[in-house]
Amino acid sequence: MNKPKRYTITSALPYTNGPIHIGHLAGVYVPADIYARYLRLTGNDVVFIGGSDEHGVPITIKAKNEGVTPQDVVDKYHTIIKQSFEEFGISFDNYSRTSAKIHHETASEFFKTLYDKGDFIEETTEQLYDEKANQFLADRFVTGTCPKCGNEEAYGDQCEKCGTSLNATDLINPKSALTGNVPTLKETKHWFLPLDKHEAFLREWILEGHKKDWKPNVYGQVKSWIDDGLRPRAVTRDLDWGIPVPVPGGEGKVLYVWFDAPIGYISSTKEWAQREGKDWEPYWKSNDTKLVHFIGKDNIVFHCIIFPAMLKAEGSYILPENVPANEFLNLEGNKLSTSKNWAVWLPEYLKEFPNQQDVLRYALTANAPETKDNDFTWKDFQARNNNELVAIFGNFINRVVVLTNKYYNGIVPAPGAFSQVDEETLAALKAYPEVISSSIERYRFREAQTELMNLARLGNKYLADEEPWKVIKVDEARTQTIMYVALQIASALATLSEPFLPFTSTKLKSILNVTSSAVETSWNEVSTKDVLLPVGHQIGEAELLFSKIEDETIQFQLDKLEASKKANEAANKAVEPQKPTITFDDFTKLDMRVGTILEAEKMPKAKKLLVLKVDTGLDVRTIVSGIAESFTPEEVVGKKVTVLVNLAPRALRGVESQGMILMTESTEGKLVFVNPDDANVPNGLHIS
Ligand code: MF3
Ligand code: ZN
Repeated sequence: MNKPKRYTITSALPYTNGPIHIGHLAGVYVPADIYARYLRLTGNDVVFIGGSDEHGVPITIKAKNEGVTPQDVVDKYHTIIKQSFEEFGISFDNYSRTSAKIHHETASEFFKTLYDKGDFIEETTEQLYDEKANQFLADRFVTGTCPKCGNEEAYGDQCEKCGTSLNATDLINPKSALTGNVPTLKETKHWFLPLDKHEAFLREWILEGHKKDWKPNVYGQVKSWIDDGLRPRAVTRDLDWGIPVPVPGGEGKVLYVWFDAPIGYISSTKEWAQREGKDWEPYWKSNDTKLVHFIGKDNIVFHCIIFPAMLKAEGSYILPENVPANEFLNLEGNKLSTSKNWAVWLPEYLKEFPNQQDVLRYALTANAPETKDNDFTWKDFQARNNNELVAIFGNFINRVVVLTNKYYNGIVPAPGAFSQVDEETLAALKAYPEVISSSIERYRFREAQTELMNLARLGNKYLADEEPWKVIKVDEARTQTIMYVALQIASALATLSEPFLPFTSTKLKSILNVTSSAVETSWNEVSTKDVLLPVGHQIGEAELLFSKIEDETIQFQLDKLEASKKANEAANKAVEPQKPTITFDDFTKLDMRVGTILEAEKMPKAKKLLVLKVDTGLDVRTIVSGIAESFTPEEVVGKKVTVLVNLAPRALRGVESQGMILMTESTEGKLVFVNPDDANVPNGLHIS
């Protein structure tokens, strides 16, 4: 399309059944926010839309598990999600929710329009039914084997393993997620969107029209669905949570969540326009508007096939220009999982890393799963901060600001004649807006951010090579020129970092004292203006932009993950079956006594072993015990323990062990003593 007159940017509406985690941020919200901020900075008319997706089965299941109403669940998480986005600096122009009145009205009307135009098939079919729960089963209420890839945990609407979009009746061996029952079939009436009728248009619009500009992962998925053949898809459900079906015969039924949710983008735009005194329609209906959907890869079919088919059928809407869906982000080598608590949760991050929003934004963009699944690790997060943000960006700015204050009381000095290096540096600087823009406009945000960091590198290297702190001793005039050039780079960084590091950009602008429009440089002006920071301009005091993240901080996060892992393992560990029966005589052969650990030391070169001296009441003997990963020697000295004293001695690493200490394991996987808790029990007492 020609240069658009306005942009409508949407980001997937998150389900309100849990907080936001880094997977959502990396896949959807950080790239969408970079894009929206960039477009605003370059003078475009932009609306950036967000909101909560409050219908759908996951929410009713969560409510049921917690013994509260679905409304309670959505109210709770809508508030948490909205606030965490705000604090994280996701610059939505409007953040709405699908329980809002304006959304119910908009979605109902949309459905009625298609109904009146005869765009639905009305059909009574047999659907899965849970006799025990008295409920029809669709979507996430039912699991079973995927007919396409054999995944045994596919859902009634989609297989998450192969991505195929399914109807519940397609599942092999379906099982109710509510009761575990095998469902029966029962007749019910629904409205179907005949996707097959839209195949020709979809082929032409995407497969021919967007072969070049859509990401290969998105294009490929869409192509394979279309090639597999599109079938009518039910857009209503037998449920009591959702938007009532607004046509005759729709009593007791609601709109399918994936019918109403994307319409939420439209309702949220309406809400925004009402508040701002604008007209919403051009943002959705005008051909000179560029509509872009930011989503994760599990949402591709809904945004590239179903929603466009709905928009097209309605007739008055534009279609998305692009759907730059990302792949998935993993965490420390494992798939992110809400139920397994394998995630970094945004509200926790904000609490534990105050004022460090930009560090997470930076690390997520640097590792964005743009073309393939990618891994977030805390070590990488630390390295990105310490070696890039602190050591390059922060170091450069700090030097520039400190030296300018020291040499010139914070006033931008007049340059003398430029050297060749100066000229080259200033010319290189002017190229950055274009280079970064071009990457952003192709949705290559990690490449764009790398270029931003290259500009900081340019500055850092310039100072390191020119060494004004040495030159000042011999050539004051030259020092002025060096500092002048460095200050121009600092100013460019303040402007160009905004989409990626908005908090840093604001802070840097305030340090450079360029927040008034007279001296503020726009994106394009970084290339076009000869002077970014004018001679005689007074800058402020130095302030650190970034600070080093210590190993302990990272270890704390790793420990939290380790605890989740252990808790999951414990929860999953099947209780070991009982061993064969023994006689009472067998039992009495075991001689177990109360003892006290008197001394403990590490076995040299053995990670797991402690060498203990134990008072058994009979004697003081040596026992080698494999507990060194759970206890330090100091921790166990003085502990009362249970000792099996008549176990045949055996040598471990050359030390004879004369007995065994009884242990078990906590849910976190830490060993604990099976001990006589009462310290008054004398050593040597029989345990029987
Ligand atoms: N709630 C969905 C999810 O988290 C996304 C909805 S996007 C919308 O996967 F288009 F439907 F709004
Ligand atoms: Zn599958």
